[in-house]
Amino acid sequence: MSSFSPLLQSAGRRRTTWSEVRTRLEKVANAAVTPLMPADYLDLFHPLRSGAPLRGRIVELVPETKDAATIVLKPGSDWAGHVPGQYLRIGIDVDGVRQWRAYSLTHGPRADGLISITVKAVPGGKVSNHLVHSCPVGSVVHLEQATGEFVLPETLTSDPAGTKLLFVTAGSGVTPVIGMLRNLFPVADEGVVHLDRSRGLDITVVHVAPTRPDSIFLRDLEALDASGSIRLVARYDDQHGLLDVAELATLVPDLAERTTYACGPGGLLDALDAHHAEAGLDLFTEQFRPALVAVGDGGEVSFTSGASVTADGATTLLDAGESAGVLMPSGCRMGVCFGCVVPLREGSVRDLRNGEITTAVPGETAPEGVPIQTCITAAAGPCHIGY
Ligand SMILES: Cc1cc2nc3c(=O)[nH]c(=O)nc-3n(C[C@H](O)[C@H](O)[C@H](O)COP(=O)(O)OP(=O)(O)OC[C@H]3O[C@@H](n4cnc5c(N)ncnc54)[C@H](O)[C@@H]3O)c2cc1C
Ligand code: FES
Repeated sequence: MSSFSPLLQSAGRRRTTWSEVRTRLEKVANAAVTPLMPADYLDLFHPLRSGAPLRGRIVELVPETKDAATIVLKPGSDWAGHVPGQYLRIGIDVDGVRQWRAYSLTHGPRADGLISITVKAVPGGKVSNHLVHSCPVGSVVHLEQATGEFVLPETLTSDPAGTKLLFVTAGSGVTPVIGMLRNLFPVADEGVVHLDRSRGLDITVVHVAPTRPDSIFLRDLEALDASGSIRLVARYDDQHGLLDVAELATLVPDLAERTTYACGPGGLLDALDAHHAEAGLDLFTEQFRPALVAVGDGGEVSFTSGASVTADGATTLLDAGESAGVLMPSGCRMGVCFGCVVPLREGSVRDLRNGEITTAVPGETAPEGVPIQTCITAAAGPCHIGY
């Protein structure tokens, strides 16, 4: 009997094959010749240390509604801070695959150095459900530095008196706005603190939710309303029906004097965009996912790695690749961050937001390929991706 027999027998009812034995031995040998570097040990024991890839440790989970929770994180030492209204990208391993998603920060800078995001679990959503339901306190997640343009102008907080703002928030779209409001009106044991940076500000918040119990941060908004810091107009779809932007003129009589900041579903933002453009009003928006209107033709999507998959015209190339085991880079997954750009080497793809076709023809278009955003494009016929 060979010297490997104990290993062969240890496989239980099924006998281990020689190729499995070889694989195990290779793993042991590889571990022996690829020792952990000192930095790896430091990362293991001090994942939040300065100089390590940016990470955060979950220190608290606060349920907000039945499907939304606030996640409080201690960020790594290299966290550079943020401006209220900005978002960060979180990288988390779900079923062994690193997924990156964007989440708005729901506080201003805090004295204890902690940061928080509030996540609503969307039906079928990989990351949101994992974060809300399966990510215990103590978990370490990957982070990127805060970014985003959905912030109040610096001049406003240095000279706020007389400025009139309208925030329109729907569903989880309240998150960047609560970050701004908490920064303007911090709450202490004795109630809302009125700071110089918010003195004289005149803020109306139109806050929309499917139902009152589904309304994220409603208690916070009601407390700000009760303290006179804001005027709250709360709308629930089940009581008031879907908000028609034409109603804003009635809900907010001095609408024309206000600058509007809005965050919510694409449909509401599009309607606001049209409404405010026609009325000549200032509007700043933040969108959490793209409004996809066009459908491509679909086709065979092949990758330089050798994988290929047949995708229909409504499936993004990013999703198509992932379904074929090709994990391309990604970020917001909604066309904002450009974290998913890869070269289209050959064929045609369609931008699902507007139907626009991008084509790469070897010998005619750039030899390195035409850059495309895989999160908002689908195959429009056979295409080859340089990844
Ligand atoms: C700048 C920015 C800030 C964001 N801030 C927040 C935040 O503060 N809180 C928060 O909860 N989310 C926020 N998001 C959305 C978040 O990044 C994810 O898109 C969301 O959590 C869904 O991810 P998932 O992996 O669970 O879903 P996926 O697995 O990617 O998608 C599963 C299904 O859900 C649908 N879906 C994807 N996103 C949404 C959505 N937002 N609403 C409804 N259905 C969706 C998809 O079309 C798909 O059918 C933000 C997005 C951006 C771009
Ligand atoms: S992942 Fe952000 S633009 Fe595509």
